[in-house]
Parts: sequence; structure tokens; C-alpha cells
Amino acid sequence: MIKIVPLLIFNIIWFILPPYIANMAPVIWGGGPPLDGGRLFFDGKRLLGKAKTIRGTFVGILAGTIVGLLQHIVYPFPSLGYALLRGFLLGAGAIGGDIVGSFIKRRFNIESGDAAPLLDQLDFMIGAIILISPLGLPPLEIILMSILITPFVHLISNAVWYLAGKKEVWW
Ligand code: CTP
Ligand code: MG
Repeated sequence: MIKIVPLLIFNIIWFILPPYIANMAPVIWGGGPPLDGGRLFFDGKRLLGKAKTIRGTFVGILAGTIVGLLQHIVYPFPSLGYALLRGFLLGAGAIGGDIVGSFIKRRFNIESGDAAPLLDQLDFMIGAIILISPLGLPPLEIILMSILITPFVHLISNAVWYLAGKKEVWW
């Protein structure tokens, strides 16, 4: 118990860091022309919406890859190539999952910025899990814990931003 619990926590943090940072990076460095070029889907709604931008997509995938590289420096993976590919897949998966989430929201008539509880918080983590699977998934308990804690981490970080006066609403 004494050894296993810290190891479990370390493995969860190590696994979620690239997708979390990839998902946060576009909020800071994103913006500009939209990924869907303003195009509409067959239903007459935007394909993805204005919140998915070319720059944000690029920056997010790059951020995931850089986190993978930094992790390799702190705690080496079998090779540098593996570390970069891992970071890239977790980052691209997070960004891809977030884009699929937006596509789904638009189909259900939910505007960019409007909430879709659970989908908003989990799309990126599910995308990251799917894309990393060909390279090898971590143990099931790591995956399940990563999914389970993500909505709570989201809620806590939003509350902190709200208390810090950076956000209008607490959720
Ligand atoms: N962002 C971006 N490119 C991406 C993803 C996000 O530029 N591929 C930036 C945008 O500036 C966006 C912000 O990150 O406004 C927050 O993203 P998100 O929370 O996903 O936007 P939502 O307003 O929730 O939009 P959606 O309804 O499409 O999820
Ligand atoms: Mg979103």
C-alpha cells in the first residue's frame, strides 16, 4: 500500500499531463481563423464553430509533444523517439477529441461557448486515450482514474479562476 499508492498517483499525473496541457494551450495561444473555414454542415449549422481555430489546434498538439519531451528529460522513456511520439499522440488525441466534441455540440444545436456537461470535460481525455492505444495503453486503473478525476479537476480549476476574478461564473 505504502509503495503502490504514490506510484499510482505518479502514473496518473504522468499520463494526464500531455493531454491536460494540450487542452489548455489553445485557450492561451489559440484564436484567429477557424479550422472549419466558416463552413456549414448539411444541417445548416457550423461544422465546428469559431472556437476551434487553426492556431489553437497547432499549438495544442505542439504543447502535448513538448510536455512529452520534458517528461522524458525528468524521467526517461525507452527512447527519445518513443517520448516524442507518445507526447504527439496524447496531444493530437486531446485536440482531436475536443474537435469531435465541438462537432457533436453543433449537431445538437449547442452554440460555441455554451455548456455540454461531461462532454466538454471529457472529450479531450477520451480522444487522447483512443490515439495513444496503438502505442500501448497504461493499466486500466490509470485510465479509469484519469477519466474519473477530470471533471473534478475541471470544476476545481474553474472555481480557482472564479475566486481569482478571472472568470465570471464559478462553473
Ligand atoms: N481553441 C482554439 N483551437 C482549438 C481549441 C480551442 O483556438 N482547437 C481556443 C479558442 O479560443 C476557444 C478556447 O480555446 O475559445 C476554449 O476552447 P473550448 O473550451 O473548447 O471552447 P468552447 O467555447 O467550449 O467551444 P465549443 O462549444 O466548440 O467546445
Ligand atoms: Mg469545448
